[in-house]
Amino acid sequence: KAADKEVKEKIKSPADYIALGEKLFTEKTCTTCHQPDAKVIGPSIKDINKVYSEKGANLVAFLKGESEAIVDTDPGQVAIMKANLDGFVKDLTSEELAALAAYMASIK
Ligand code: HEC
Repeated sequence: KAADKEVKEKIKSPADYIALGEKLFTEKTCTTCHQPDAKVIGPSIKDINKVYSEKGANLVAFLKGESEAIVDTDPGQVAIMKANLDGFVKDLTSEELAALAAYMASIK
């Protein structure tokens, strides 16, 4: 995608990825439902990281709608996140999704 190329040209280091991911996490309203430490509507970023690292799961695959929810599998909760995936996350480029995942993984 052309947009991917545009993002790629701006990214020179892992730190740039994390910075872009942090910006997107706010701009794309992820922060409304995901806080670093506390459950708000969705699970905290730390809880997501814990499950993804324990299971060796791929966060980008989830954001692309290619893998099932593994953190909170309550159907009502899954539906809320699924609405985001189908609504606007699908319009993000692979590079942007990788940046979001890098930012989330950087929260320790
Ligand atoms: C309206 C609230 C809301 C917004 C906005 C939102 N999420 Fe979620 N998210 C949820 C809920 C609820 C869950 C729990 C269900 C689940 O685990 O899929 C969740 C789960 C997740 C999970 C864990 C998936 C799993 O395997 O269980 C990830 C990763 C995630 N969100 C990333 C994001 C990112 C990145 C954004 C912004 C692009 C975002 N979310 C925006 C509500 C939201």
